[in-house]
Amino acid sequence: MILPPRVKLVEVGPRDGLQNETQSVPTDIKIQLIDRLSAAGLPVIEAGSFVSPKWVPQLQDTAAVLAGIQRRTDVRYPVLVPNMQGLERALAAGVKEIAVFGAASETFSHKNINCGIDQSLERFGAVCDAAHDQNIAVRGYISCVLGCPYEGDIAPTAVARVAARLQEMGCYEISLGDTIGVGTPAKAQALIETVAACVPVDVLAAHFHDTYGQALANLITVLPLGVATIDCAISGLGGCPYADGATGNVATEDVLYMLDGLGIDTGVDMDALLGASRFVSDVLKRAPVSKVARALLSGKSSR
Ligand code: HMG
Ligand code: MG
Repeated sequence: MILPPRVKLVEVGPRDGLQNETQSVPTDIKIQLIDRLSAAGLPVIEAGSFVSPKWVPQLQDTAAVLAGIQRRTDVRYPVLVPNMQGLERALAAGVKEIAVFGAASETFSHKNINCGIDQSLERFGAVCDAAHDQNIAVRGYISCVLGCPYEGDIAPTAVARVAARLQEMGCYEISLGDTIGVGTPAKAQALIETVAACVPVDVLAAHFHDTYGQALANLITVLPLGVATIDCAISGLGGCPYADGATGNVATEDVLYMLDGLGIDTGVDMDALLGASRFVSDVLKRAPVSKVARALLSGKSSR
């Protein structure tokens, strides 16, 4: 098995995690969390979203969060943007990078962004053009790549079609979202092989929610195929408000422990990451979902 020597971790907890919290998280706590994550060495931290505050009230303070964080020059702080209105708000907040988010499932697309796949791609094309004119980098997400809460199985070719369109409109990276964490390793392998026939594998990122406990197994399957960017959420926070029952992304601590054990470089420091994990767990008044964090923070380990 040939593994990449280095993997880029994209921390999505402050966005994907906190968008799904039922309890309100104060702006100042979000700022402290992001600053702890950047201090731990994470190179990319998704800081929030500029979506409709009626749809996702949890992240309506994203502009204030961005104004409050200590922006490090070596860290990127992208935000989700669904349309031109979102882009305008992101530009006003001084954002340098955005992410558009589509789906490989028609029904999920309607539930999540209130339009079908083709209409969403038209919108994203306009957003990408306007963003690129302002030197703003754009990442593209595709949800439901390994299954949909409404439609069940999704064909890898449906994912590849959307990936090709996102690449054509200039998305520098395409993140493949197993939104409800239903994928298993053989399906993850078939997905990457099919999508990589349409777009270069090195632009792909794995965004695996861990609902069924399969995320690490799926990741170790796709790393040797050339995927070297992994999305993860501190403490395993989160889910998607428009995918009932979906739990958080694979925990950053769990991914880091596995990659450290494999000798793969990430630039992230486990002890500092655990500090961020403990911080957010204390605020939310619940133990981390991450098994690694629970083991290491319990003091039972030798670390
Ligand atoms: P819509 O209702 O069709 O939008 O929603 P509209 O254009 O008809 O506008 C309706 C109202 O929303 C208007 O306000 C607009 O001004 C306002 P009103 O006149 O009624 O007062 N509006 C906005 N306000 C602020 N910022 C904006 C904006 N756009 C419109 N950008 C829309 C369409 C896309 C806006 C809505 O469906 C939405 O916000 N959806 C976001 C859903 C979301 O954030 N989901 C979670 C993130 S995706 C995810 O988690 C998956 C991922 O992690 C990958 C994976 O795991 O699979 C990325
Ligand atoms: Mg997600």
